[in-house]
Amino acid sequence: MLRTREAIETRRSIRKFKSDPIPVDVMDALLDAARLAPSGCNAQPWRFKVVKDKETKLKLAEAAYDQPFIAAAPVVLVCCADIGAYLEGMVSGTEDLGKVGAVEERVVQIIHRAVAGMKSMPVAEIGPRIALNVAIAVEHIALRALDFGLGSCWIRLINEQMVKGIFGWDDNLYVVALLPLGYPAETPPPRKRRSIEEIVL
Ligand SMILES: Cc1cc2nc3c(=O)[nH]c(=O)nc-3n(C[C@H](O)[C@H](O)[C@H](O)COP(=O)(O)O)c2cc1C
Repeated sequence: MLRTREAIETRRSIRKFKSDPIPVDVMDALLDAARLAPSGCNAQPWRFKVVKDKETKLKLAEAAYDQPFIAAAPVVLVCCADIGAYLEGMVSGTEDLGKVGAVEERVVQIIHRAVAGMKSMPVAEIGPRIALNVAIAVEHIALRALDFGLGSCWIRLINEQMVKGIFGWDDNLYVVALLPLGYPAETPPPRKRRSIEEIVL
């Protein structure tokens, strides 16, 4: 098994995949890694559609402004935020944290007010605000995938409405990203990164 440092250093965006399928228990391990991610108030708003059929993958590739390699991956994860579940989870999660003394009653009240405020927002504004929670879970998957020799590539260049249309989803689901997954058929070199000096303010 890779150490975290090695996983972080060796991960690459993979855009060429072998056709070998991903075993079900491996997919379960990846989803388990997502499940364990941290989230605001432990609300756990992430939801995943596991897409394996060719026709749907082709539609997803098209909804990603025609990035054809997406359809060639054995699995494409559609990574979403469930807005209703997030708002509910914020309240119940904060109350749980309150019960174990992790947050004060004052904070629980602040969260209640924040949730009430979010409920009065247009739903289209809530998705982008909570996407960050899903992003953490997606990166857990991308890193855990390396333990099984799998590669992936974040896809955010997507037409969200087109993706939702493929599955008939309503505005309660916000599509955060696609994550094609499969055994790599390429070994890309490390891509350029900024130095520490450049990123420290
Ligand atoms: C939020 C996000 C969105 C991205 N969207 C796309 C995408 O739509 N298509 C694509 O080919 N790569 C996409 N990428 C991959 C980046 O191009 C890649 O991470 C970057 O070039 C660094 O390369 P590396 O991941 O191999 O280190 C995305 C990455 C992130 C984190």
